[in-house]
This record gives sequence, C-alpha cells and structure tokens, in this order.
Amino acid sequence: MMTVPAFRARKGSGQPLVVLTACDVMTTAAAESAGVDALLVGDSLGMVELGYDSTLPVTMDDMVHHAKAVGRRRRDALLVVDMPWLSFHLGKKAAVENAARFVREAGADGVKIEGGRKRLGVLRALLDSEIPVMGHLGLTPQSVLKMGGYRVQGRAADDAAALLDDAKAIAEAGVFSIVLEGIPPELAARVTAAVAVPTIGIGAGPGCDGQVLVIHDLLGMLPGTVPKFVRRYADLHAVSTEAIRRWADDVRARTFPSSDESYG
Ligand code: KIV
Repeated sequence: MMTVPAFRARKGSGQPLVVLTACDVMTTAAAESAGVDALLVGDSLGMVELGYDSTLPVTMDDMVHHAKAVGRRRRDALLVVDMPWLSFHLGKKAAVENAARFVREAGADGVKIEGGRKRLGVLRALLDSEIPVMGHLGLTPQSVLKMGGYRVQGRAADDAAALLDDAKAIAEAGVFSIVLEGIPPELAARVTAAVAVPTIGIGAGPGCDGQVLVIHDLLGMLPGTVPKFVRRYADLHAVSTEAIRRWADDVRARTFPSSDESYG
C-alpha cells in the first residue's frame, strides 16, 4: 500500500511516479489493476464527468460523492483528493473542515490545493491538522478567469522566477509533492531540481519526478480533441459506440437475446 512518506521518498530514486485521475469504481479499478502509484480525484471531473465548461462550478459535495466511490474501490494506490474552488479560500477553519471530509468520508491520504505563497496560511493549517497536502502550480485551472483562459504559464522570466519561489516556499512549508501543470519543460526541470519533494508533471515535459494525466484523456473516453500534452492510449469512446451500435442492431433484428441468453 502506497503511503505519503513512501511517495515522497521516491524523489531521487530514479523511479518515476505514476499518478492518474479517477472518479468512480470503473476508473479506479482500471488504474489500480494497472498498478499506478497514486489516484487523484481531480476537480477536472467537473468537466469530464459533470459536463461543466470549467472546474469552478464543482462543489465539495460533488468531490465527496466521487471521492467516496474511489475510496471504496481503492486497494494499494495513494488516494489524493482535490480541494475544489472556494473550499479553501474562505478561511483556515473551513479549509480544514472541508479537507477532513475527504479523509473521514472517503479515506483520502491527502488533499491537493492550487496556488503558491498566497496559500501558505491555509497550507500550514492543513498540515497542523495532520492532513498531508500536495501542491499545484503553473496552469492552475481554478484561476482560469484571472489567467484569461487555459494558457501555458511561466514563459516570461519574472513569471518563471515567481513560480520557482512559490515551489520553494510550499516545499519548505511541507507539501509532500507538487503538481506542475502547463509550464515550459525547462522551468519544470529547474523546479524539480530546486525542491526536495517529487514534482508531478502534466503538460510540463519529461523533467519531472512523475507524470499525471486525466484518465478520460488517456483512454479516449470522450469524443473530440485533447490538449497537445496528452497521449491517447485507447479510443474507448469509439469502442463503446461500436459495441452499443452492434447491440442496438441485434435488438432491432430480434437476434438479441438468443435462447442461450434467456432463462429456460
Ligand atoms: O483536476 C485534475 O484532474 C488535476 C490534474 C490535471 C492534475 O488537477
């Protein structure tokens, strides 16, 4: 069973960390069977499961609902749950109470929060409550309005320097890992070299200590295009559509069910 200390200790081991999102029993079972190191119940589920245009509408109750399903099926992987927008912005007490729901109700091993130095207060409050925290820097989707869209971050020298300072600050404060999303590979490699905790990249190049993807993107579970950084390993949408079409044809041709598929 993966633990927070074991996950953190993989830094410098030469063995990259494999993290994948999960949101229900089916995605958890597949990721667990494939032997991922950690499951992330990401608030991206608001877009890939709940049909929103951004992660901003996702509520604590949405996250708890999905995290509980993942927690029931999880066997060996570390379980990290995303704190959704406004669940950690309205004061330390509310943040701790919200994070504790993931621990108590879903069996989470830790939570993830977006943001750098300006989140140090809440980060310390969570750590003081014995809740391990994963950081998330770069293209942080909860800042989509401020960023004016989903744009690569840290391209300008001063933005890159600020991101590096954020990473050092949250690492020193005690996060056990940092997700680096949508930043140039050189910057991700610099951050990775500068902090003592594992960095997990998504759209941040190969120089991180591990990688994370959204399982829906990896498996092609939805139609349409995916971001440049995604590699699709399956086209489950096409496979599912074809299977359903064949079944529908059989129903319409009255060849389903057969006598073997009926009770005698
Ligand atoms: O919400 C999410 O799925 C995430 C990952 C993309 C890192 O935060």
